Amino acid sequence: NVLLAPSPRKPAPDFNMEIISDIKVMQNRCLSVRAAGQTISFVPTMGFLHEGHLSLLREGRKRGDLLVLSIFVNPTQFGQGEDLDRYPRDFDRDEAMARECGVDLLFYPDAEAIYPPGYAAYVTVEGPLTTTLEGACRPTHFRGVTTVVTKLFAIVLPHVALFGRKDFQQLAVITRMTADLNLPVEVVGMPIIREGDGLAMSSRNVYLSKDERQQALVLNGTLRHAAEMAQNGESDAEKILTMAESCLDKEADLKIDYVKICNAQSLEEVDTIDHDSVMLLAVSVGKTRLIDNGNLIS
Ligand code: PAF
Repeated sequence: NVLLAPSPRKPAPDFNMEIISDIKVMQNRCLSVRAAGQTISFVPTMGFLHEGHLSLLREGRKRGDLLVLSIFVNPTQFGQGEDLDRYPRDFDRDEAMARECGVDLLFYPDAEAIYPPGYAAYVTVEGPLTTTLEGACRPTHFRGVTTVVTKLFAIVLPHVALFGRKDFQQLAVITRMTADLNLPVEVVGMPIIREGDGLAMSSRNVYLSKDERQQALVLNGTLRHAAEMAQNGESDAEKILTMAESCLDKEADLKIDYVKICNAQSLEEVDTIDHDSVMLLAVSVGKTRLIDNGNLIS
């Protein structure tokens, strides 16, 4: 009886998550999953998971038969003097959260496995996509990101990979790289997840003191104000940028790295706002660097 047949649905999380550190073991597991005709969804992270990552995992759970999470604090995407050594880490907490989200395989390699002695292969996306905005402030950052993501794709062999839109430029760079290299992976961008007071979730938020965290709210406040101006008909990017800079300048411990309005695809700066315009911000609050972004016309 067709009417009484159970509807087909994804298997419920079985909590039998496997943790794999060895690259060959991981790759062979993923090869056999593919050979069995199952699909793999993949969420690459640097750990210290928060609700933003969990939203990617929940979506990943729906999109593939096997859900893979990687946790790897990738040294090549940190510049000299950046926070590689103090980047927050809590594997036990991450492991428990991953189980809760129904992760099947947690890939947890160490730096020597990913970059063994003599390692020499790097992947770069050239041009304005990687030299503007974050690329201008952190010149070696995207080379590190694209290299590790390519390696992770080659190990995990995912059908779909999910990334947060908080790292807007990273998502654009990875999308470009995946298309240009004909990698058979669907790259999916997921919405920014914010705290109740509007602060975009980030592993680096733990660095903020109570007072700095309060000052950091100006990022979302500025984006909202900018969107309000655009939606009320202001189309001159210069006027919106002037407002944004003066909002951000009011916070005592905040230093602006950049405030730009760009085309969402090319990331080139625009003079006139349209539906494809996005405002991108990068600031330091005390010693903590924060980024955020938002569309101006929804
Ligand atoms: O967004 C991140 O956490 C990292 O840049 C990524 C994509 C996992 C690469 O190390």
